[in-house]
Amino acid sequence: MAQYRESYHEKRVLVTGGAGAIGTNLVRTLCESGAALVIVLDDLSSGYRWNLPAARNLMFVQGDVLDEVKLKRVFFEEPQVVFHLAAFFANQNSIDHPEHDLMTNGMGTLRILEYSQLAGIERFVYASSGCSIYGSSAPLPLREEYMSMNLSTPYQITKMLGELYCNFFYNNYRLPVVKTRFFNSYGPGEVPGQYRNVIPNFIYWALQGKPLPLTGTGEETRDFTYVEDIVDGLLRAGYFPQAIGQEMNLASGEETRILDLAHWINELTDNKSGIQYLQRRKWDTKSRLLASIDRAGQLLGYKPGTPFKEGLANTVEWFRLHWSDIVASASFQPGMSSAVRGADEKKGQPVLQH
Ligand SMILES: NC(=O)c1ccc[n+]([C@@H]2O[C@H](COP(=O)([O-])OP(=O)(O)OC[C@H]3O[C@@H](n4cnc5c(N)ncnc54)[C@H](O)[C@@H]3O)[C@@H](O)[C@H]2O)c1
Repeated sequence: MAQYRESYHEKRVLVTGGAGAIGTNLVRTLCESGAALVIVLDDLSSGYRWNLPAARNLMFVQGDVLDEVKLKRVFFEEPQVVFHLAAFFANQNSIDHPEHDLMTNGMGTLRILEYSQLAGIERFVYASSGCSIYGSSAPLPLREEYMSMNLSTPYQITKMLGELYCNFFYNNYRLPVVKTRFFNSYGPGEVPGQYRNVIPNFIYWALQGKPLPLTGTGEETRDFTYVEDIVDGLLRAGYFPQAIGQEMNLASGEETRILDLAHWINELTDNKSGIQYLQRRKWDTKSRLLASIDRAGQLLGYKPGTPFKEGLANTVEWFRLHWSDIVASASFQPGMSSAVRGADEKKGQPVLQH
């Protein structure tokens, strides 16, 4: 086993948002790597118990990152490494519920940082969003030094706010913080829903033989990153000392057209219903997303290894294996069960994220 993975053996690790799409994959890997204890703090607002592994070294605490009683409970276990993944997800959700977004992503992050600093932890890894914080006019590929003051949703603002608080705790208290910026994670573990990403939602519609709702022209591109590659980047960020105080993109470094994505998913699922074109979402101002992963390569030795079509096939396989749990958990507004009605008719807002 690589040294950075071995370093988690016998470690005590706290994962906030550990029952979520990325968190469950991270938690599973940490449990399997022989961590002494993996503590999950999650309020299950968009995470699921059934998605967590049954492991003897896993402790699950259901609660809000703002709940001081729950925070005392999880920090009583003396975590050495904290992965802060809990967040109110994502763009459209934050437009519909901006104050909730600020409380969880802003105040929640501040509170986890405060407890981490008081507890004297060894490493704090923050889940930032490269899809969010660069704005829409940055040159491609997106590099870490670029800054934008023109963000288009509350979620984008609060993911940036979390980074700014991380900087404060690093500069003021020398808290060993690392800021990882994810780009469009996909893979096993993400349950579809009104506020979820395009890939799980496309697979969900496709497996029901419905047309895939495409918000835009289909020429838009995204940098889709397989969740196992994100988990690998997180484990590295929690280990390598040169990452402390730094921010780095965790992405695939490859661009995929949404139209190609839709065709591949229809092929993989044998869906004959094709594509349904819908209006572009007002806040979705990014026609292309592509990240530079040079810095993560230099600082962490990060090298994403999963070919896109292989990752998609694994994701479809996961859907087939867990179909009844997924159907029971997928949350769409009433009247959104058909991809033809893949837009919120009242507000004229399409339902897919990113
Ligand atoms: N998925 C992506 O493409 C992507 C891209 C960029 C950044 N990120 C960031 O990565 C992190 C994980 O994303 P994800 O895709 O796994 O999202 P997710 O919604 O699946 O996971 C977030 C988890 O946090 C929990 N949570 C929400 N509010 C909480 C609260 N107040 N207290 C405790 N728990 C709470 C949810 O129940 C959920 O299990 C988030 O911080 C997100 O902003 C994700």
